[in-house]
Amino acid sequence: MISLDNTLIYKAKDLYYDYLGNIPALRNICFNIGAGELVALVGANGSGKSTLLKILDGLLFPTSGELMAFGTRLSEKILETGNLAAEFRRRVGLVFQDPDVQLFSPTVWDEVTFGPLQLGISKDEVISRANETLEVLNISSLRERPPYLLSGGEKKKVSLASVLSLRPQVLLLDEPTTGLDPWSQGNLIDFLLQWADKGKALVFSTQDLDVVEEVATRIIVIGASHDIVADGMPEEFLSDSDFLLRNNLIHEHSHRHKELVHRHPHLHEHMHEH
Ligand SMILES: Nc1ncnc2c1ncn2[C@@H]1O[C@H](COP(=O)(O)OP(=O)(O)OP(=O)(O)O)[C@@H](O)[C@H]1O
Ligand SMILES: [Mg+2]
Repeated sequence: MISLDNTLIYKAKDLYYDYLGNIPALRNICFNIGAGELVALVGANGSGKSTLLKILDGLLFPTSGELMAFGTRLSEKILETGNLAAEFRRRVGLVFQDPDVQLFSPTVWDEVTFGPLQLGISKDEVISRANETLEVLNISSLRERPPYLLSGGEKKKVSLASVLSLRPQVLLLDEPTTGLDPWSQGNLIDFLLQWADKGKALVFSTQDLDVVEEVATRIIVIGASHDIVADGMPEEFLSDSDFLLRNNLIHEHSHRHKELVHRHPHLHEHMHEH
């Protein structure tokens, strides 16, 4: 039975995941995520962030270890059919890293109304949610357009809208700001911070340490060996340039300051002094 006590949302114990039996993607992952947390997942390319988000969405199941969500152990069987599956799908929404994987409807409007209609929500409510969500993301003008003919950033916004229109309690976002222009990134961050409250939870992956600092209450860093190398308050880790360099979260590279080209670790904005 899904627990009515929502304080603890996820409990991951010794999760391992291998693709095709021999490509390691996650190793020895343990954490608890409670309601009210805004968790940033960071790590180098290929470290396992997207895989973990798919596991949290019940799309993939750990090769070993267990994941509890809302007090129930997630398994293929539990999520196949029935009330528990419907309840889990109502509560949790994942926006994929690649919007082309997410989008399938003939128009943007169909895309943002499909999910809520599937959940059996009344037509009036679906229309009002869809309108509101398109407005929040500033894409109302795209409503009649086919998603596959949109720009990359527009597609990303439509895929976000298709999940936000479900009004999930738990939002899983795989690199939500990637490809968005600076105004749209700020707009999305404003939305997420207004959306967040003590009943909800956000888990998002990102390569942008500024977004971590602006949004997250907690950071989980996945290392090159696909295990958790840090889990705590963002400010504990974001100012530790040795730690960030070691985990490929920043890079010491050449760059230009007017006439001067030089090298130093490229820290995120608030720590970047010249
Ligand atoms: N469908 C798949 N089949 C086989 N291997 C995969 C598949 N998807 C991912 N992998 C592998 O699993 C590992 C983890 O990949 P994952 O996509 O979770 O990383 P990520 O941290 O999201 O990376 P990125 O920052 O590039 O998005 C990588 O080694 C990757 O090559
Ligand atoms: Mg990824």
